[in-house]
Amino acid sequence: MGVGVLRRYKDFLPVTDATPQLTLGEGETPLVRSNRLGKELGCDQLYFKLEGCNPTGSFKDRGMVVAFAKALEANSRAVMCASTGNTSASAAAYGAYCDLPAIVLIPKGEVAMGKLAQAMSYGATIIMVNGNFDVALELVRDFTFKHEVTLVNSVNPDRIEGQKTAAFEVVDDLGEAPDFLFIPVGNAGNIVAYWKGFKEYKAAGLSHKLPRMMGFQAEGAAPIVNGAPVSNPQTIASAIRIGNPASWQGALDARDASGGVIDSVSDDEILDAYRLMASKEGIFCEPASAASVAGLIKLRKAGLDLAGRRVVCIITGNGLKDPDLAVTSAVNQPIEVEPTMEALESIGLAKPP
Ligand code: F0G
Repeated sequence: MGVGVLRRYKDFLPVTDATPQLTLGEGETPLVRSNRLGKELGCDQLYFKLEGCNPTGSFKDRGMVVAFAKALEANSRAVMCASTGNTSASAAAYGAYCDLPAIVLIPKGEVAMGKLAQAMSYGATIIMVNGNFDVALELVRDFTFKHEVTLVNSVNPDRIEGQKTAAFEVVDDLGEAPDFLFIPVGNAGNIVAYWKGFKEYKAAGLSHKLPRMMGFQAEGAAPIVNGAPVSNPQTIASAIRIGNPASWQGALDARDASGGVIDSVSDDEILDAYRLMASKEGIFCEPASAASVAGLIKLRKAGLDLAGRRVVCIITGNGLKDPDLAVTSAVNQPIEVEPTMEALESIGLAKPP
């Protein structure tokens, strides 16, 4: 039975006797060892952390459950967030579960269908903004400053606290921190959360080393790599279509303190990794999640030696979130036949015995 991150990691979280013990079963996601890609990359210890296995299909639930618990503890009446989709789906779900109204601002026309369907089904108040994520987040920050509504974007420290539990799980499963952690970067909260988690576990004596933090933005939405905000970010990976990340400095700190990198990958590299994860590993992730794998492939090609190294790629969200892209970008298209044996055999699927 999933006990949830609030109970499992209470000693590391801002949990008090007054904090409600909520859970939709978040956390305890699988760490799956690569079966094919690792061999091709000369990396015999490659793992994927499947955060798409969380209740709403992305890592956001880890932070959201803590943010909601603390909001309830503080007698909040409503929560609000801006989102490229997953945060809104998660806030909407916990809003339904806790009976706490969730208001979500999303960039109009830029949220993948599965995520929109979730927020609508869970019954959030959905505001479509004529503008991108960065504009929506600015609005949410101003609104929640002025009104009694709890901000649940990752600028709320409780979100980061919850999300760091994924780093704990990686160490719990491997028995030690990995050598490299590859992770997509959008608003940059997650890379900050993992780094915090790894540091806290080491300080508690539960691990003895720290991973190099390898963050990847999409080329058309790579403000941290470029060193300047991007006013009109563009990428096929809509979850990380962000031009002015809130945790920019935190991401730089994680990179520098860990000896890591923040680099970018092109949409073609993201799409290749996205297809490869599904067709070679059986892991259907969303395009933004594939940025971590695309980054690994890119650095391997550039000469990064992974022999004998333990590498973890964070697969942040489930591929079902973006079904339109899956169908339009698939190499394998369905074959149509008449319902007869003759027609089926004419395709040449198998030789007779
Ligand atoms: N992967 C997925 C699937 C995401 O949804 C996000 C962010 C990221 C990676 C990047 O994480 O922002 O902490 O650097 N999604 C946010 C949202 C922005 O609104 O759902 P980050």
